[in-house]
Amino acid sequence: MNRTIKLTALATVVALTGIFTLGMQTSDAADGKAAIEQRRALMKSISKDFKPIKAYVKSGKGSAADVAKHAKAINASTGKILALFPKGTGRGDFSDKETRALAAIWKDWAGFEKANKALADESAKLASIAGGGDQKAIAKQVGVMGKLGCGGCHKPFRGAKAK
Ligand code: HEC
Repeated sequence: MNRTIKLTALATVVALTGIFTLGMQTSDAADGKAAIEQRRALMKSISKDFKPIKAYVKSGKGSAADVAKHAKAINASTGKILALFPKGTGRGDFSDKETRALAAIWKDWAGFEKANKALADESAKLASIAGGGDQKAIAKQVGVMGKLGCGGCHKPFRGAKAK
């Protein structure tokens, strides 16, 4: 092979690699975007389950059985949270408007898992306590779940709303 052909071959390889890499990045970005959309929808659905629970505590709306039902739904949702936070889908990878997920999530994945487990544990406890029907005990556990379950993750791992 003479020098020119060698260089041409090399250039071709470099160009093809470049195209391949670009293609991968594009599909990664699309996957990332989908994960962000899905986890935001999941959070909204968790929030929707939390609403009737708060209404029961605040103004006696609904029943303890409703609380148990929605606590179980939140508990089931915790099984889907972690998978919707693949690496490369936080702020820094996407704009502040697209996501509020902080890089701290992937720097401290064990801590993020622990925060997820806190909501799993506290929602399970709430479902069990609600089954007993003691309104005072329910109110207390709702407070614990909100603080440790939601706040325990949002505080370290969720950034401020984009302006
Ligand atoms: C393990 C961590 C974790 C737990 C537990 C958690 N969240 Fe979140 N939540 C997040 C993160 C991170 C975001 C930001 C997601 C993004 O913007 O990509 C978020 C976003 C949200 C949003 C905004 C959704 C939107 O419109 O974009 C709501 C509402 C919400 N969470 C409600 C709750 C409630 C209510 C609870 C407790 C019952 C809860 N979350 C528990 C991590 C968590």
